[in-house]
Amino acid sequence: MKQILSILIVALIIGCGGGEKKTQETAALTYSYMTPTQEMLDSGKETFDKFCFICHKEGIGGAAMLTDKVRWTNNKAKDLEVLIQHVHDGFTGEYGTMTPKGTCMECSKDDLRDAIFYMMTEAGVLE
Ligand code: HEC
Repeated sequence: MKQILSILIVALIIGCGGGEKKTQETAALTYSYMTPTQEMLDSGKETFDKFCFICHKEGIGGAAMLTDKVRWTNNKAKDLEVLIQHVHDGFTGEYGTMTPKGTCMECSKDDLRDAIFYMMTEAGVLE
């Protein structure tokens, strides 16, 4: 009986430890502007060329083109966290509506950040 009890206690401790780690990983996800690495820009270009370009290349439906430095300067005035959330959930502003995840359903928030960094770099508002 004593043995079973100690096995249970050990299992409980291991179980709790695992749960704690996951919370820490989720909490660590905070985004801010930075100089993107070449790897981020390459990944961002890939996402842009597959998904975001549909609207953002020619400005379809009110999307800001990469040549529109004024609109991208205004976008950058917003918190990066907010922009990622807007792309993730979909967003309707004064120009039009963006579909959730900018149609990239398999994109993680990191992927969306990379795409935003690529677009801002192309627009010349992120060094
Ligand atoms: C279906 C068309 C469409 C696609 C696809 C699309 N967007 Fe957009 N996006 C828009 C429109 C329209 C706006 C402008 C909304 C407004 O301000 O009125 C916008 C705005 C944005 C903004 C600014 C959000 C804000 O808070 O002002 C960012 C950043 C952005 N898009 C990134 C992306 C990324 C990254 C992708 C690809 C993963 C993408 N978009 C794909 C239509 C699109």
